[in-house]
Amino acid sequence: MKAAIYPGSFDPVTYGHIDVIKRAAEMFDELIVSVLDNKAKTPLFSVDERVKMLQDVTKEISNVKVESFSGLLVDYAGRKNVHVSVRGLRAVTDFEYELQIAQTNRLLSKGKLDTIFLTTSLEYAYLSSSSVKEIASFGGDISLCVPPLVADMIHEKFKDTDMTTIIE
Ligand code: PNS
Repeated sequence: MKAAIYPGSFDPVTYGHIDVIKRAAEMFDELIVSVLDNKAKTPLFSVDERVKMLQDVTKEISNVKVESFSGLLVDYAGRKNVHVSVRGLRAVTDFEYELQIAQTNRLLSKGKLDTIFLTTSLEYAYLSSSSVKEIASFGGDISLCVPPLVADMIHEKFKDTDMTTIIE
């Protein structure tokens, strides 16, 4: 069985991520979408909230599983015996960061974890979780950026918090 991991912060999941998930799920028997539990960051959504969001938006895709992980991606992938990491590339600005992560992971895994890149569909090339949070924090329309359930969850968060401190 050919499996891949799509790791990320997904804070929150956007239509851009969902586009990558759908396309990667067609290439592999199993796609594990894995939310990084990063203690060094202050996310808008807890890991559980992000996992639940992702489960909801991928519920129609039978070969997608959603999990969380902490620590190094290579260790997590090694435990699961998965050798491919999937990442989306929106523009050349993503490339340096992604190249660095991909090469580091190949080095750390002694060649066992490779990364494949899917170029984001053009209609989502502008999208990022950070801009979605910023737009929502100022009361803007995020309906073209995230599914309705995610938009509701973001608006709920923004209701009584000063979000400007946690937009990263
Ligand atoms: O959605 P993001 O925040 O761009 O995802 C980044 C992610 C989760 C892919 C990356 O930070 C990661 O894999 N972190 C786990 C720690 C790790 O393995 N670091 C070594 C590679 S630099």
